[in-house]
Amino acid sequence: MVKILLIEDEESLRHMLSVFLGRKGFAVTEAATGEEGLARAKETRHKVILCDIMLPDHNGLELIPRLREIDHHQLMIVMSAYGSLDTAIEAIRLGAKDYISKPFEPRELLIKIRKALEEEHLREDNLRLRREVENRYSFQNIIGRSPAMQRLFGQVKKVANFKTTILITGESGTGKELIARGIHYQSERRDRPFVAVNCSAIPENLLESELFGHVKGAFTSATSHKRGLFEEASEGTLLLDEIAELPLSLQTKLLRAIQEEEIRKVGDTKITNVDVRLLAATSRDLGREVKERRFREELFYRLNVVNLHLPPLRERTEDLPLLLDHFLRHFSLKAGKQIEGFSGEALGLLLRHPWPGNVRELENQVERAVLLADGKTITAEEMMFADTELPAEKASAGFLPDTLSIKKSKAALERHLIGKALEKFGGNRTKASGELEISYRALLQKIKEYGL
Ligand SMILES: Nc1ncnc2c1ncn2[C@@H]1O[C@H](COP(=O)(O)OP(=O)(O)OP(=O)(O)O)[C@@H](O)[C@H]1O
Ligand SMILES: [Mg+2]
Repeated sequence: MVKILLIEDEESLRHMLSVFLGRKGFAVTEAATGEEGLARAKETRHKVILCDIMLPDHNGLELIPRLREIDHHQLMIVMSAYGSLDTAIEAIRLGAKDYISKPFEPRELLIKIRKALEEEHLREDNLRLRREVENRYSFQNIIGRSPAMQRLFGQVKKVANFKTTILITGESGTGKELIARGIHYQSERRDRPFVAVNCSAIPENLLESELFGHVKGAFTSATSHKRGLFEEASEGTLLLDEIAELPLSLQTKLLRAIQEEEIRKVGDTKITNVDVRLLAATSRDLGREVKERRFREELFYRLNVVNLHLPPLRERTEDLPLLLDHFLRHFSLKAGKQIEGFSGEALGLLLRHPWPGNVRELENQVERAVLLADGKTITAEEMMFADTELPAEKASAGFLPDTLSIKKSKAALERHLIGKALEKFGGNRTKASGELEISYRALLQKIKEYGL
């Protein structure tokens, strides 16, 4: 039986509605004040709440968020003697499902209740279907129905349980770390630790002791023994993220650790055996790093036994709707908002966007839009794209000097691209250089040269 909570101070009306709705097969709980209503709502879960706007102790509008806090799935219908449209709009903005002006026929109310219940039913059905679709097209929380992603899931399943090292490649934000976790949780090592280390985030002189640990007295600040990440990840999985940034000296030591399954802690005379499954990730072209002698060839082959490549989002647009839906639901829930979708125009923009920052950019975009959204659908105005909305000519020519000199134009173009890359990665030069496809050192020099 559908439970209804009826919050109405006017006794005769409350009684009449209670009897009427009772006869129509609802279980009605009555409350004469706002406080009583809140207390009843806390005790039992009601599917529908009918709430008067003018209560002796509360304005019904204040009550809406408090009731929703108790349970935001209940359907609220607001009743008021003041047929003011402003109040109705405000009530609905606050989360009420519908609005009815007094005086009304009980039958009118009944129609509204049934309509709200029906919509809710549809919404739940819809949610269940969406979940089913998502389960079918996701693997360890990684969403993807595109052939490329489906193939990748198949590969992960095949290799998860072998101890081979895997090199995960793909542009920034494509989900490399997510895939690494997926491999770990798909493997028999899932109950042991998954440890990830970003090789570009730790200063070179600390990285060795971070990875392998050190013994007391190994260097001035080594006042005690320290376990390295290899030991932390014992019997589990260690992800070496941004592996291209690993200094050459450590590349040699890492190669040894993989080949011999043993490490030497900094300052230690003994070796320590380790059982760790290694995964490496990079957004760079490691093959090219090898050619340019920034990466050791043997290590490259050792890591690259299996290569899992994540294509950029713009090459798997089939995944966009599922990803948008997934993040929309995730962030609406988190923000306590009931947002049902994107307007046609907004969806058009999202589907046409090239997503240079890949899934991470999409995730951030949806989160921001959800926070800005006023209504149940996200409009085009509520989305902000950096500058991709500019017509192509404007976007590319604005920064070019008014000259035909290739030399000057090239410098301006370089300056522009470097500025954009630094902006994109919040000033992270390692990542910027990766995306610009120039060496870190070259980037530093250009930053200086252009005074960026
Ligand atoms: N297929 C996917 N399904 C769901 N979420 C995804 C997917 N791909 C990426 N994400 C999400 O996008 C964000 C970026 O993913 P992740 O950190 O794995 O990318 P990355 O390739 O390691 O990026 P970077 O090179 O910048 O470190 C994360 O929040 C992740 O959960
Ligand atoms: Mg990453």
